Amino acid sequence: MKAVVLVGGEGTRLRPLTYDLPKPMVPICGKPFAQYQMELIKKHGINEVIFSLGYKWNSFEDYFKEGSNLGMKIHYVVEESPLGTAGAIKNVEDYIDNDAFLVFNGDILSEMDLTDIINFHKQKKSKSTIVLTPVDNPCIYGVVELDENQRIEMFTEKPKPEDVRSNQINAGLYVLEPEILNRMERGVNYSIERQIFPAMLEEGEPMYGYKYPDYWMDIGNPFKYLSANQDMLLGKMKHNPGLVNGIHKGKNVTIADGVTLEKPVWIGDDVIIKEGAKIIGPAVINKGCKIGESTTVEKALLWENTELGSGCSLNSCLVGRGCKVGDGVSIGELAVIGSGVTIEDGTCIESGGKV
Ligand code: GDD
Ligand code: MG
Repeated sequence: MKAVVLVGGEGTRLRPLTYDLPKPMVPICGKPFAQYQMELIKKHGINEVIFSLGYKWNSFEDYFKEGSNLGMKIHYVVEESPLGTAGAIKNVEDYIDNDAFLVFNGDILSEMDLTDIINFHKQKKSKSTIVLTPVDNPCIYGVVELDENQRIEMFTEKPKPEDVRSNQINAGLYVLEPEILNRMERGVNYSIERQIFPAMLEEGEPMYGYKYPDYWMDIGNPFKYLSANQDMLLGKMKHNPGLVNGIHKGKNVTIADGVTLEKPVWIGDDVIIKEGAKIIGPAVINKGCKIGESTTVEKALLWENTELGSGCSLNSCLVGRGCKVGDGVSIGELAVIGSGVTIEDGTCIESGGKV
């Protein structure tokens, strides 16, 4: 079986971080998010992956190359302009054979049992199987209604709150039979959620929903992306023990006397933390960062090679790579600082601010 990973979106809700890296390549505890998805795919014995790309596609190829590091074969199919979630699948048709195939949204962190999902698809003789997860706020997702045999009766993408009749949403993984490709023309923009699934249901095609009960996170906005990093440390994933009782220190880390580290804290290679600094977890400080004297980093995420001056206060914020933050700067909750930004001494960046 082959897996297609949809990674062509522009990651607008994660800007300005996604001006530097496409959403699936943003780091989670030192590794690009997409690598976690690749490891899950590989764990279930699938060795051939097709990346369906557009925006900043070179970052994927630069990192994963032809896949041999992971023991996989990776193909890269690039769109000239976005073809939508279904047009992007049609665009990789040359790599699909007569077997069912998997399609992943490229921004979902989960521990789905792909083997069980594929077996379910076959047992049900389903034409399209959608993995489902329960959420509290379904109207920002694709909402799915099932009958008592888990057959899908209705799929509504981002419905109005008054039209929501189910808390089960599209979790961003499908098993598809290849004939779905006959529903589309090459080079035309189609949405699988708004056009293809509703049309298949209208025509009575058998589609089933597989209920996935465990950890699930769409990393598409600053809150959720920060939460995914923190959840990883807090051990919220079943197969990942996290760092609940600990502090991860990479190689060549220098921590001065009188530094407070409140677990869980993840510190990458070559990080320098100066006297009197406080790192309050769950916090992630990627490699090469420098934290100045008496600076507090609380529940925040710093990408690589960012330098913070002295006496700064960072609270639950996200800072890109290679930033230079002056002395006495404060950065509020869920503020997002893009890569390469310089912030002058004494600046106050309010909660939710974007720089
Ligand atoms: N190649 C390609 N081309 N990929 C695309 C395109 C495109 O034109 N448009 C979107 N994608 C990719 C994105 O990169 C992302 O990985 C995935 O398709 C889904 O797009 P998002 O923009 O993240 O959609 P969403 O989060 O609003 O909604 C989708 O995911 C939800 C689960 O998180 C839908 O599938 C919902 O139904 C679902 O509930
Ligand atoms: Mg998404």
